[in-house]
Amino acid sequence: MTFEVISHDLAFPAFILLAALSLLRFVLYPVLLSALAKVPKAHWSCGVSSVWILWARYTNRENRTIGEAHRRYGPIVRLAPNEVSINDMESVKTVYQGGFDKHQWYSVFNNYGVPNVFCSIYAKEHSIRKRMVSHVYSKSYLHSSASLAAQADDILNTRVLPTLDTSSHEGQAHQAIDVHSFFAAAAMDFITAYTFGLQNSSNFIQQKVYHDHWLELYRSRKGYSFFSQELPMLSKLLSPIGLHLTARMEAANRELEEWCAKLCAATLSSLAMKGSKPQTPADQPVVLRALLHGLDKEERVRGKESPIFSTAISQRNLTISSELFDHILAGQETTGVALTYLSWHLSQSQDLQHQLRAELLSLTPNMRMESGKVNIPNSGQLDRLPLLHAVIIETVRLYAPAGGPEPRVTPHPSCRIGPYEIPGGVRISASAYNLHRDERHFPHAEIWDHTRWLHTDDMDEERQKEMNRQFWGFSSGGRMCLGSNFAMHEMKLLVAAIYTNYTSHIVDDEGIAPTDGYTSHPTSGQLWLRFERADLG
Ligand code: HEM
Ligand SMILES: *[C@@H]1O[C@H](CO)[C@@H](O)[C@H](O)[C@H]1NC(C)=O
Ligand SMILES: *[C@@H]1O[C@H](CO)[C@@H](O)[C@H](O)[C@H]1NC(C)=O
Ligand SMILES: *[C@@H]1O[C@H](CO)[C@@H](O)[C@H](O)[C@H]1NC(C)=O
Ligand SMILES: *[C@@H]1O[C@H](CO)[C@@H](O)[C@H](O)[C@H]1NC(C)=O
Repeated sequence: MTFEVISHDLAFPAFILLAALSLLRFVLYPVLLSALAKVPKAHWSCGVSSVWILWARYTNRENRTIGEAHRRYGPIVRLAPNEVSINDMESVKTVYQGGFDKHQWYSVFNNYGVPNVFCSIYAKEHSIRKRMVSHVYSKSYLHSSASLAAQADDILNTRVLPTLDTSSHEGQAHQAIDVHSFFAAAAMDFITAYTFGLQNSSNFIQQKVYHDHWLELYRSRKGYSFFSQELPMLSKLLSPIGLHLTARMEAANRELEEWCAKLCAATLSSLAMKGSKPQTPADQPVVLRALLHGLDKEERVRGKESPIFSTAISQRNLTISSELFDHILAGQETTGVALTYLSWHLSQSQDLQHQLRAELLSLTPNMRMESGKVNIPNSGQLDRLPLLHAVIIETVRLYAPAGGPEPRVTPHPSCRIGPYEIPGGVRISASAYNLHRDERHFPHAEIWDHTRWLHTDDMDEERQKEMNRQFWGFSSGGRMCLGSNFAMHEMKLLVAAIYTNYTSHIVDDEGIAPTDGYTSHPTSGQLWLRFERADLG
């Protein structure tokens, strides 16, 4: 018998066997036998392949593609052989309040290769990390923090208002400001001041050239995370043969990481110089101190037994930088984007600005500029202004700056989602975008209408509560946004300081339509407004 004959003889049956096995594994099993078979498919191919949803993600059409699928097939749909999307609050409660682990998709947020709160996958280590810092982000802590008040005073009076003032001088042609970049800078200065203390923080509002460079690095990370998040194996396989799908993103990341590590190091060394003059409230590095304290305690109490020992304690400096870099990244773009869309809507209605100004002037003290300065108002009073709250919350509803799907993983052995029994290990997500477009809760959902959040006679309390429950701009449950109170407070301060004293007007809003992604922003990356003093406008 020749070699050829043997191989021919065996090749055919082997081929048949392989084909049969493949059919079973890749077609029949997922289509018929998988417990997910009962879940409506967003596309005919979703039972056997991920290509359909990967393509939507690759072409930045994920949000609308999933939204369309929910409108057609209901609140629970299958996106891929092992992936489900949900779009009702009942299921959201099960998954997000139920503490499902995050999907590996988040591991790219692993700054310096060391985990932090945001990218921790498992609930146990996540909660140890989050506990170290969460108290300094609670509403009561923020509202009574002398440090935050002093930092806000400095940032508003020496950076924010002077920038608007030079752009709005009488007699001169009004200079337009790109508020998308301006608000991102303001958000960065606020969060780094609270984290590192004012003297060791960024000054992006005034250092515009460096800020532009920074933003360019930050933006170049964006589209490139597709491969590392969705196809991590492919990225790893291709890199030895010289195809670096994420090279540009990695280079930008390294430079940004170095920038943040420097801020951390400067703050750590200024803390280490004991005996030097006591720090003013504005120079207190509130978040960094809380984190140091938390790490010390973990080391003392659990030491080597700690589930986060290998990274958090033995790689202390990297842990600090990774954690704080994450807060900074999470805090700047989201807040900047929300303020951009809010100022865009306000600029379309002088009447609404007028109403808002009247409400803001009711604060005692209010934020009217006197001899070039504004006072920082009482935090509780500021927080309770209904119109200010309504315009902000409506902006976060409609534009949901972090509005894309938030992937989690179903626990083993299985869990119940609506009428379906979903096996463990399935990727499952909801998105603020689509939850916020549920017409049952938000009639005319595509319209920005702040009045939906205002108490009126024909708005019963039950409906108001229902609407609040449906609001998901900061997510919910144990993995809810760490900085939601910080973001609300800083946005309220900025809007109040600006709109007490200025009116805003659109100069150029081309490309304002939001991009469709995990985080979104104006397509053009800019919005040009003109500010005028309120008594002149
Ligand atoms: C308008 C502004 C903001 C919006 C809309 C927003 C939204 C969100 C959302 C939706 C999540 C959940 C993401 C997910 O699970 O995929 C989140 C998580 C997070 N946010 Fe924010 N955020 C904002 C501002 C901030 C600020 C100022 C900080 C600064 C500390 C911050 C820090 C974080 C962190 C650390 C997490 C992860 C929490 C965890 O996993 O336990 N965010 N944010
Ligand atoms: C997100 O999806 C909704 C509905 O599914 C759509 O109306 C909205 O325009 C989308 N947003 C973006 C930025 O594409
Ligand atoms: C950091 O802040 C301290 C005061 O808190 C200051 O003395 C020091 O010079 C600052 N370091 C840098 C690098 O700005
Ligand atoms: C951590 O940072 C501090 C302050 O910059 C520095 O003095 C110390 O040597 C660093 N420790 C390690 C292990 O790198
Ligand atoms: C501050 O606000 C008041 C009223 O809201 C306005 O009349 C005044 O011109 C503002 N000051 C500046 C410098 O814009």
